[in-house]
This record gives sequence, C-alpha cells and structure tokens, in this order.
Amino acid sequence: MESWVHGFSIFLIFFFTYFLFSHAQMPGFVSLDCGGTGNFTDELGLQWQPDDRFRFGGTANISIPNETRKQYMTLRHFPVDNRKYCYTLNVTSRTRFLVRASFLYGNFDDNNVYPKFDLSMGATPWSTIVISDANTIEVRELIFLATEPTISVCLSNATTGQPFISTLELRQFNGSVYITDYENEYYMSVSARINFGADSVDPVRYPDDPFDRIWESDSLKKANYLVDVAVGTEKISTKMPIFVDKDERPPQKVMQTAVVGRNGTLSYRLNLDGFPGGGWAFTYFAEIADLGLNDLRKFRLVLPDAPSVSKPAVNILENAQGKYRLYEPGFENLTLPFVLSFKFVKTPDSTLGPLLNAMEINNYVKKNGGTLDGPNLASLASHYSSADWAQEGGDPCLPVPWSWLQCNSDPQPLVTVVKLSNKNLTGNIPPELTTFSGLIELWLDGNSLTGPIPDFSGSPNLKIIHLENNKLTGSVPSSLARLQNLRELYSGNPNLHKANSGGLHLGIIIGSATGAAVLLIATIVFCIFLHKGKKPKKRYTDQARLGHILPSQKIPSSLENTATEAAHCFTFSELEEATNDFEKKIGSGGYGVVYYGKLKDGREIAVKVLTSNSFQGKREFSNEVTLLSRIHHRNLVQFLGYCQEDGKSILIYEFMHNGTLKEHLYGPLTRERGINWIKRLEIAEDAAKGIEYLHTGCVPSIIHRDLKTSNILLDKNMRAKVSDFGLSKLAVDGASHVSSIVRGTVGYLDPEYYISQQLTDKSDVYSFGVILLELVSGQEAISNESFGVNCRNIVQWAKMHIESGDIQGIIDPSLRDEYDIQSMWKIAEKALMCVQPHGHMRPSMSEVLKEIQDAILIEKEARGGREGISDDFSRQSLHSSIHLGSVDLGPTDSYLSFDESIARPTAR
Ligand SMILES: *[C@@H]1O[C@H](CO)[C@@H](O)[C@H](O)[C@H]1NC(C)=O
Ligand SMILES: *[C@@H]1O[C@H](CO)[C@@H](O)[C@H](O)[C@H]1NC(C)=O
Ligand SMILES: *[C@@H]1O[C@H](CO)[C@@H](O)[C@H](O)[C@H]1NC(C)=O
Ligand SMILES: *[C@@H]1O[C@H](CO)[C@@H](O)[C@H](O)[C@H]1NC(C)=O
Ligand SMILES: *[C@@H]1O[C@H](CO)[C@@H](O)[C@H](O)[C@H]1NC(C)=O
Ligand SMILES: *[C@@H]1O[C@H](CO)[C@@H](O)[C@H](O)[C@H]1NC(C)=O
Ligand SMILES: *[C@@H]1O[C@H](CO)[C@@H](O)[C@H](O)[C@H]1NC(C)=O
Ligand SMILES: *[C@@H]1O[C@H](CO)[C@@H](O)[C@H](O)[C@H]1NC(C)=O
Repeated sequence: MESWVHGFSIFLIFFFTYFLFSHAQMPGFVSLDCGGTGNFTDELGLQWQPDDRFRFGGTANISIPNETRKQYMTLRHFPVDNRKYCYTLNVTSRTRFLVRASFLYGNFDDNNVYPKFDLSMGATPWSTIVISDANTIEVRELIFLATEPTISVCLSNATTGQPFISTLELRQFNGSVYITDYENEYYMSVSARINFGADSVDPVRYPDDPFDRIWESDSLKKANYLVDVAVGTEKISTKMPIFVDKDERPPQKVMQTAVVGRNGTLSYRLNLDGFPGGGWAFTYFAEIADLGLNDLRKFRLVLPDAPSVSKPAVNILENAQGKYRLYEPGFENLTLPFVLSFKFVKTPDSTLGPLLNAMEINNYVKKNGGTLDGPNLASLASHYSSADWAQEGGDPCLPVPWSWLQCNSDPQPLVTVVKLSNKNLTGNIPPELTTFSGLIELWLDGNSLTGPIPDFSGSPNLKIIHLENNKLTGSVPSSLARLQNLRELYSGNPNLHKANSGGLHLGIIIGSATGAAVLLIATIVFCIFLHKGKKPKKRYTDQARLGHILPSQKIPSSLENTATEAAHCFTFSELEEATNDFEKKIGSGGYGVVYYGKLKDGREIAVKVLTSNSFQGKREFSNEVTLLSRIHHRNLVQFLGYCQEDGKSILIYEFMHNGTLKEHLYGPLTRERGINWIKRLEIAEDAAKGIEYLHTGCVPSIIHRDLKTSNILLDKNMRAKVSDFGLSKLAVDGASHVSSIVRGTVGYLDPEYYISQQLTDKSDVYSFGVILLELVSGQEAISNESFGVNCRNIVQWAKMHIESGDIQGIIDPSLRDEYDIQSMWKIAEKALMCVQPHGHMRPSMSEVLKEIQDAILIEKEARGGREGISDDFSRQSLHSSIHLGSVDLGPTDSYLSFDESIARPTAR
C-alpha cells in the first residue's frame, strides 16, 4: 500500500509541474487561456497564462463581434474520438475551491455544426456542453472541497462537432465559505448567482469579489432569466458600507443594491441549469432603504412547489440586528425544479414590500469515487511520465477509459484489459500490474521488459497474457497454474524457460520462439475480430455512430419542466407494433400524417410520419431532434423520440386525448364538446405559456411559425399544449440558412413576414392574435361566408367590429351570456394588438399572457356574481343575426410552402 501511495505522488509531480505559476495575484488563482500564446494580465487584474504545455489537441483563433477579451479569442480543440482530454490542476487538499470552465465556439472549425460534448470533473460527470449559438459563452462552475492534491477537468464524448475549451479558472476560497454537510460526497454546480438591483448589465466579480465569483446582473437579458417581474418592482442602492461577515458571502458591492416590491410582491422566474434535483439555495438581505418610524418590512418566500419553505417570515432589521448588515437565510438541501418561479410577499402587518439583494442557487452533483484500481494505475503510469499514453489524466476508467485500458461497467469500475503492447517499456514488469483483481487480459508484448515473470495470483480472472517479444528471464512460474481462468499465455522470450512442474495445463499456449508467437497473435486477432463482429447488432452500431442517446430517466412529474437531453431512438418495427401497422390516422398537417399508437408499457403515443424528402441528412436530423428533445414545458406537447429508418423520418409525441382546439371550436363535434368562456381563456393561457417558453425559455429562442387552432391540443383534463414546435428547423430551407420559403397557414400568416420574409417571434404573436379572435367569435380564420361580402378574413372582420365598439357583433353565440363583458373586451383588444400590421407594434407573448391572466381573474370574480342573478341583456338575440353557422372548411387548413420565385408578394 505504501509504495502505491509513494508512486502516486511521484506521478503527480511529473504530471503537473508544467502548471507552474509563480506569484499569482491571489493565492489559489489559476487562469488558463486555452490555446493562448503568452502571459497577460486582463483589465480586471487577473493574470492569464497559456495552456501551451498541454500535450493534446490543436489551437484556434476566433473573432467574435464586440468580444475583446483576449482569453476568449483563442481556444483548444480536440479530436473526435473515444478518448477524454484532461487538464490537471494543483489544489490544496481540504480547501474549498471554485473551478470555472468556459466555451466560446466562434465557429472555429468553419463548420457551423454546434458542438455537444461532456465535461467531467475527474470521474464525475459534470455537465453536457451544448453550444447553441456561435457567439455566446457557455460557462460552467463547480464549487468543491478538495480531497486530493489535484483535480482534473476532462472533455469527452462529442456527439456533434469537436470538443473544445476557451478558459479554465481555479479560485480558492477562504475558510468555510460554502461549507455543507454534503461536501465530502457532492460537488455543487452553480445554477444561479444573482445581484439584484444591479446598476448595469455587467456582472460583479474580481476585484469587487475577492474570490472572483461572477454575480450576474438582474438586468441581464437571456432566455427565461428573471422574467415575470411583479408590478411595482424598483431598484434601490446605497453607498453605505455593508457589514458582510468575514466569509464575504456576497461582496459588499452586491449587497449595496437591491430590488423592492413597492406593491407588496417581488416575483421572478428563471431556468436553473442542472435541476430538477437537490440543491443549495441562499438568499441575501441587507436593509439599505431609509425607513420611517412606523415602517415595518416583513415578508415571506413563496415557492409554489414547496409550501413548507414558505413559513418563516423575514424581518431583515431584526434578523440581521440592524441596518446595513447581512442576513442570509437559506437551505442546504432543497429540491427545486428546472424552471423556478418564486415570490416574496409582504405579510399583512407589514407596511413595506419585500426587499432582495442577492441570491445563489447551486445544484448537488454526486461525486463518483472513481476506478478502484485508480491509485495503482496512477502509480504504474508514473514510471513512464514522458510517454503520452501515461499522461492522459483524469480517472483511468471514467467517464471513458484511458486509451490503453478497458474497464467493467461497475459504478466504481475495475480494469479488465491492460494493453501496453509495443510501448517501449523497460525494466521489470511493474509490480502494479499484479494487483488488478478484475484483470482479464494483459498485453505487454513487444517491449524491452527484463527480469522474471511475477506472480499474477492477485488477478484470478486473467484469461489472456501476452509477454512475448521481451527480454524476460527466469522460468515461467508455477503460480500461473493457479489462475483457473487462464486460457492463453504467450511467453515467447529467448531466455525464458518452461517450468518443470506439471502445473500448466488446460491448453495454455507457451510460444517459445518469436516466429511462433507472431503466428499465434495472428490467430488470436482473427478470433477476437470474429467475436466482436457477432455481438453488436447493426442497429446499435448505427445508433452509436449517430451519437444517439438512451431513453432518459424518469423525472419526478411534480416538476414543471424537466431538462433531459435525451432523444430516444425508436425502431421502425417497434412503431409498427405500437401503431398496429399505422392503422389509426388521427391527423395530418404540413409536416406529415399522425397515427395513434400504444407502447408496450401502456403509454399512448402520437406517431408523426414526416412527409418524405423535406428533411435534412441523418446527422443534422439527429442533431436537431436532440435539440428538440431538450424543449420541455407543461404546455408543449411532450416529444418522446424519433425514428429514422429506410428513408422515413418519424417523430413520436405524447398522445393528447381531447384532440385539437379546432375540433372544439367548430366542426361536427362543437355541439356536444362546446367549451365555455372561462375554459377558452384557460386554453389561451396554457397555449400562451407554451409559446412564451419557446420565445424566452429556449436558447436559441424558437419561433413556432405555424400556430393555429389545429396545433393546440387538449389533454385528458382539457389543458392545452402547443404542438409542432421546432419542426420548421428540421425542414430544409433551400440551400442556405437564409429562409427562402415562407411557411405558415393561410389565415394565420403574419403579413409582414410574408412580405419581408424576415421571421421574428412577433410572427407567432400575429398567429396567436388570430387564435384569440377565434376563441372570442367561434369563427374560423378564413371563411367564404361568415364575414359578409368582400371579407374572407377574421382579422378584417373583427377589427371592423371591435374598432367601432361593437364587440357584441363578434362574440360566439354559443357562449350565450355566460361571460363577463370586461374580460371579453380585454381579450378582444389584446387580440387586435397582436394582429397589428407591423411586428414592432405587437405585444410580446409575455404581455399577452399577463392580459389573459387578468381576464381570467375578472371572469372568475364575475362568475361568482353571475351564478345567482340572471341579468339577461339578451345578448343571444344580438349575435344570432350575425352568426351564420360554422362549417368546417377543411381546405383552409392547407399548408403554404411558397417557392421564393412565386411568392414575391404584391402590395396589398
Ligand atoms: C503541483 O504539485 C506538485 C506536487 O505536489 C508540485 O511539485 C508542483 O510544484 C505543484 N505545481 C504548482 C504550480 O504549484
Ligand atoms: C507566465 O506566467 C507563469 C506563472 O504566472 C510563469 O511561471 C511563466 O514563467 C510565465 N511565462 C512567461 C513566458 O513569462
Ligand atoms: C493565433 O494567433 C496568434 C497571434 O496572432 C498566432 O501566433 C497563432 O499562430 C494563431 N494560431 C492559430 C492556430 O492560427
Ligand atoms: C457591438 O457594439 C456596438 C456598440 O456598442 C453595437 O452598436 C453593435 O450592435 C454591437 N454588435 C453586436 C453584434 O453585438
Ligand atoms: C402599484 O402601486 C401603485 C402605487 O402604490 C399603484 O398606483 C398601482 O396601481 C399598483 N399596481 C398594481 C397592479 O397593483
Ligand atoms: C437531500 O435531501 C434528500 C431527501 O429530502 C436526500 O435524499 C438527499 O440525499 C439529501 N442530500 C443531497 C445532497 O441532496
Ligand atoms: C525507447 O526508450 C529509450 C530509452 O528509454 C529511448 O531512448 C528511445 O528513444 C525510446 N524509443 C521509442 C520508440 O520511444
Ligand atoms: C455520450 O453522450 C451521449 C449523449 O450526449 C450519452 O447518451 C452517453 O451516455 C454519453 N456517453 C458517455 C460514455 O458518457
């Protein structure tokens, strides 16, 4: 044992000396400029050094508009192979650190295939890096207690593009900042670190934060980051010093700004990377406002999914025992969703609204203890520190093994194959090689090893040993006979003689001359080849090549959103079985025909067979489908997987029991399935949430392009979900990325987009406005009869009525008088805003959503009143003169796909 430990530390010395940095600005700060060429100090005073001693990969220079920081203009990239590439950094054991890796793609490979690869911290999977924009920096941070003298950060498993890295930073904390009960078994991955009330969009970091944590500004604009801000939210700040305790959990500058909820509430919503899961969440308060004599600031945290955390009330002055002092309540272990909505609400006795200075949320990442053979392997490698194969770094087996090893699949694996043939090894057979209890094959042939063959009884599972073509001496030891599983031993060495005991049996092959050994190797290689060829079925090899992903794990259903990154690949035969040979057609649309299916596990599915020839090559398809599978929201139809076989492209979704909104609004079933106003409002709310998420919660944001009532589906409980999102990305848009084809459906198509071909999220807002008008009127978007002479279009018709104050003229008669006129007006007016001719005049989906929610509140209040009194203003008779009955005009749902040449619009 002792010798292993000794060997291990020698290995470390050899391995890490090239990360020497003399007098860094802060002890324990390391800033590596990957792909860089020289030392420099940046404008913050951080000293950067190149990773030029790193042995692997290539470097590249990139240029990004408006990015001037030198460390981001270079990167190091790695080959696409089965290996991992590891950076190793010295740390001080039993000390807490922050490690930060950043990735700025900048299209360095002139390829525009956005890379996706895995990042690991030693043996522990840390994060999957998914680049979705060439000019956006992806950052990952991990807080950890060092338990070894070094850490390694590794890149591996590129499923698209090449792995690369722009910067790698290490920051040492002082004392007990971030101490937790779990730190020996878990890392903390940083999900959110927010400075509220910030005076600019720039983050606060070094030197304001002595540990160079990055406190993001709350006015930063990024996807689903601090949206849904409550009315009355205001920024406040102070120049007074703030007493933050010695640990400097938020630095003073962060605590000097805050937001207050003047109307009694602070509310926010944001995405939390790494969640759902268990996490660490702290809020930071300091009273920095001037309070009157009778003022009281008292409030509670409200987390919709965790009522239990909402009990204690915060009174900053009392809790912090004075003004300008830090109070930091938090949870060391709290289960949080991926999309977190939270609120601070004043208590009834409080005269002031809540105040919030800062917040931090980290996600627990369970550490993997790594390969059990790790110390011995490290010791073995340390004997050969000048060889590349001994410098691969990280854990020997995880997340992928070193190039000369194979490991079993235990959570803490054992080495099964050591392949060091022809590696120029000298000296005795290293003693570490006799210690691997799971070893099955040992290849040491073609080296210059000397000395005797050691006792391998520590590896009782050994089946194959190759020792030929070395300079071994002595005799073949009888201990080999005790290896019950040994089948093949190649020992061809000129000076080696057979053991005289009759111990060796069971057809062990003992070559005694070089030539014989070579022959035998040829035989064995052939056998192995046959053996390998037998195992994997074609299907799996295809999947592996395409970088497909296994089905995701089940994620608690209580969570609003989930962030799996798995696109399940169904086989065609599985789908044939599920759909009973595509028996039951349940719909069709622009992208293909939809069939009903039921999986073996009972799950009902909708199987969409895409119209052939309109989809990109296999690799792009699986790339896009993987992106699609990352979009999860309660109000988006869940994407379950895909299949691409025999030239067919198929997408699989959850089955929605109540069909489309279209069927409920008009069509043959309207009479029995008709839906009342409050239900329509709820459907509008659901759909708006789904679309808002596409626009603001996805990176890059997704424009639906084909919103219509037949793309809004209703589940068992009549909750609405949006379908067919993200599909337009899959379809080929001509040769380039420039959209040359206008897509959409007649009646819902944004006229501005149609004319300019410039697609924005406001085109979806237009289509949604049309849907709102349909909900109000029960009329289809386009009709030859309903809208009177010279008008075929719901927008023109509704506009005319609403603008002249005649809202009654368009309200669906089947609603009778069961609605509140105010809520109806709210929706009608918003709908008109949505269908404004120019995108910039239309509201955002978030604004539309707010309006719908207001309308719901009004409607619910009014309902209470209506139940008793029947105040009939005979609206019924008013509408009936207008309503001409609704006919399902099938063809109006037809799909538009103009070629540029014929779609040049004329002025309208
Ligand atoms: C890293 O650790 C090794 C072994 O303790 C030591 O020899 C080396 O100087 C260290 N490197 C740096 C940069 O501190
Ligand atoms: C760069 O900085 C590191 C440590 O900060 C130092 O060890 C190294 O000598 C410097 N290299 C050059 C070329 O100045
Ligand atoms: C990147 O730019 C630096 C400095 O201009 C240059 O020395 C280096 O060769 C460039 N690297 C590549 C890969 O082009
Ligand atoms: C770069 O910065 C300038 C001035 O701040 C701004 O006008 C321009 O839009 C920016 N360009 C990009 C691509 O962000
Ligand atoms: C918020 O408060 C202000 C002033 O206290 C008031 O004028 C405004 O109506 C309130 N807004 C809401 C939505 O309650
Ligand atoms: C957190 O609490 C849950 C139970 O609520 C427990 O299962 C888990 O191990 C705890 N620790 C971490 C680090 O999540
Ligand atoms: C093998 O090792 C010897 C000495 O250790 C060295 O001189 C020689 O260059 C090495 N050969 C190869 C091919 O690495
Ligand atoms: C590689 O990545 C894919 C998807 O990104 C994942 O399913 C697979 O498990 C990863 N492989 C390893 C060895 O981590």
